[in-house]
Amino acid sequence: MAVKNGDVKDVKLANLGKEHVQWAEMEMPVLRQIRKRFLREKPLKGLKISACLHVTSETANLALTLRDGGADLTLCASNPLSTQDDVAAYLTGAEKIPTFAIKGEDQKTYYSHINSALDAKPNLTMDDGADLVATIHTKQKVLLKDIMAGTEETTTGVIRLRSMEAAKKLMYPIVAVNEAMTKHFFDNRYGTGQSTIDGITRATNILWAGKNVVVAGYGWCGRGVASRARGLGGQVIVTEVDPIRALEAVMDGYRVMAMPEAAKIGDFFITVTGDINVIDIDDFLSMKDGAVVANSGHFNVEINIKALEDLAKEKRHARPFVDEYTLSSGRRIYLLAEGRLVNLSAAEGHPASVMDMSFANQALCAEYVYKNYKKLEKKVYVVPENIDKEVGRLKLQAMGVKIDVLTKEQEKYLSGWAEGTS
Ligand code: ADE
Repeated sequence: MAVKNGDVKDVKLANLGKEHVQWAEMEMPVLRQIRKRFLREKPLKGLKISACLHVTSETANLALTLRDGGADLTLCASNPLSTQDDVAAYLTGAEKIPTFAIKGEDQKTYYSHINSALDAKPNLTMDDGADLVATIHTKQKVLLKDIMAGTEETTTGVIRLRSMEAAKKLMYPIVAVNEAMTKHFFDNRYGTGQSTIDGITRATNILWAGKNVVVAGYGWCGRGVASRARGLGGQVIVTEVDPIRALEAVMDGYRVMAMPEAAKIGDFFITVTGDINVIDIDDFLSMKDGAVVANSGHFNVEINIKALEDLAKEKRHARPFVDEYTLSSGRRIYLLAEGRLVNLSAAEGHPASVMDMSFANQALCAEYVYKNYKKLEKKVYVVPENIDKEVGRLKLQAMGVKIDVLTKEQEKYLSGWAEGTS
């Protein structure tokens, strides 16, 4: 439903969205504190932000924080299947934050929503996957003159931006929020770990205990998924291309093998690599009857869906977020959420408690780049250490966890080199 300054499924869902946003807020104490300060100090006054993020109840809390900080915010979806329609309705209808996002939107609508967010002529872009930045740099270069800086939420986006920087194509500075320790240690690991299992469970209701769970990729997301699948009794197999990560997976107690071997024995397959065609035609051909295939990486490229479509003699919608493909051998393969990130498509994404830290970094980085953009070059920057540490400190404080402080003697010892064995 296109409403003034937004395009959402149904504005009448706003009340339900409000409940969900308030529920998430309870678990976001760090962002709450920042929002309170932003409301007083208005550090983002005069700033126009276009944000391309998963439109969830957690993102809504970030949006309200930026708005209360004085920013003029426009929001669009960073994935066609991740939008929570009630939340989009609440932001647009009740909070008057223009939001362009409809769950299940087709590719054309997805990009038209990105363009609508860019119609606001932002000074700052906030991306999750770098689609805003890519659109600006390829199709909307005229906007570059007004843009001071940007932020990027996720690993995939940071990889894209670093290759733009290396090719000297990046035209404004970006802070890689993903690189904050208080982001990827928690969001990528515990967030993706839990929400991926949640998405697959909600979509299939299949028991994990005793199943062979193949996790492709052992980055922070893969580590999280593997550990949570094992926690539910799954027999986890890891596939990797990086020898050190593969070794780490072996020593963490998982079986490690190449995908062609894993394909023969897996019950669940979960891709979290950020790369293309990680599960390919030959893998489908050797899978067991009933294999479940899901992706939790940012883009829907990790599973070669075209190959699966071509191989299948029959395709049937089995239940929400589950498509059944029958191959000519008679074996059935179940693809979840059309290969889009299953945690945000079939469940609600990462729990608010981890998004609290990710979005606290986003809010503080928006403030940081607004103050400092003149000093920044056309590069990808890591999050300043003081912001990262502050987010960690505030989170511990909110959890009621106290930690030690170095004594003067310990500080002196750590900064010296002369003292060894006593
Ligand atoms: N990315 C992963 N989980 C998310 C969530 N709950 N909200 C916004 N972005 C996310």
